[in-house]
Amino acid sequence: MMIQRPRGTRDFLPEEMERRRHYEQLLRQVSLSHGFREVSTPIFENTELFTAKSGPNIVEEIYSFEDKGGREIALRPEVTASVIRMFINEMSNLPRPLKLFYFGQCFRYERPQSGRYREFYQFGAEIIGAPNAETDAEAIALAASLVEGLGLKEYDLKVGHIGILRSRLAELGVPADAAAGILQKLDKKLYDEAAPLLRSHGVQEEEIESLFATTRVAGGKELLADIGGEPGRYLNELFRFLDAYGIEDVVIDLGTVRGLDYYTGVVFEVEAPCLGAEKQVCGGGSYTLSEVLGGEPVFSTGFAIGFDRILLALEREEHAFDAAKLDAYVLPTGEDTREESFRIAARLRRAGLSVDVDLMRRKMSKAMKHAAATGARYAVIVGAKDLAQGTVTIRDMESGEQSLVPVEELAEALSA
Ligand code: HAM
Repeated sequence: MMIQRPRGTRDFLPEEMERRRHYEQLLRQVSLSHGFREVSTPIFENTELFTAKSGPNIVEEIYSFEDKGGREIALRPEVTASVIRMFINEMSNLPRPLKLFYFGQCFRYERPQSGRYREFYQFGAEIIGAPNAETDAEAIALAASLVEGLGLKEYDLKVGHIGILRSRLAELGVPADAAAGILQKLDKKLYDEAAPLLRSHGVQEEEIESLFATTRVAGGKELLADIGGEPGRYLNELFRFLDAYGIEDVVIDLGTVRGLDYYTGVVFEVEAPCLGAEKQVCGGGSYTLSEVLGGEPVFSTGFAIGFDRILLALEREEHAFDAAKLDAYVLPTGEDTREESFRIAARLRRAGLSVDVDLMRRKMSKAMKHAAATGARYAVIVGAKDLAQGTVTIRDMESGEQSLVPVEELAEALSA
């Protein structure tokens, strides 16, 4: 019987891992350059951490189980709740703002398809600080720099304010605990399913239509003048800071709802149109979680990039990626120099070079073919006659040029 991996999970082969690590490192560098610092939290948590305020979407999709001690445990479906738990547990006395980023696996029991997995990776950031527009702008600026830094060419950045729909629902008499279900439908643009829910709370047809119309308001900065109330004032301020950061291509979209229920203020999403249905590569906004989880009320805002999805988008855009090459592949010409080849390989590795050596006891010509297949820059050919003179032959794998080099000078020659 051949055992398969679980549905919605993936294996990553060396080439793919190299590509992933390359982009992961880029994301880290850009985040550090914006003054964010990395954190890491457990992959599993007590289930209630995620059921408290994540909304119906997430609760349905959670991987949870009872552990051997009878505790309700869940694999994390996202990392924001964990970061806020960590903040309450261990960081609440630290100077603010706290600017944190993370990278790791998340798990959701979803129907797998291209760009949608049961195990996937998020690169996210959270700011815990002051409730002002520049804090939200700082989060959006990092998201934009990350997407740019990865080299994604075509993407749309949409910004909205969930406070607009939340306060409209409250005015229409929809209780706060029922709002989550309605917003969940609106997030997915399932108007036919949202309408009966609204009716069940006594909302009239014309009010339903006007609410739906709000979710369809989208356009450029000229819309800012028409958005009233506190959300309007806040968005105007936010856009001044986004301007200052040079982030200009932003669509205002009041239909940006988000799937998670903890958002209370500015919300934003980045979409890569080349991905079709699963085009959302990043989502975030400001949210209320600390007090829900037993902490003090603090302002927090952040986002997460769907790492797998954004990599898929880069692949669709044929973004070139140069894999790191081995500096050298060491091969003996025969049994008599095999051990010496290992000694040479060890010496080169100690000198900081990336070096491989023949383990298959291949004949010279086959070993050379294999060396070429690894993509090594040089082959180091260790022959008995050369060795007697204290030299080896190095072969430039691209040009085919060969030269004799004293073993003592080998590391230097290969680094040149
Ligand atoms: P989210 O929108 O649920 O937000 O997820 C963020 C991103 O993760 C999505 O935009 C998408 O690219 C990716 N993603 C979600 N589900 C899957 C899946 N099944 N397979 C592949 N990729 C997926 C959050 O998780 C919030 N915690 C973001 C946040 C941080 N808000 C404030 N701070």
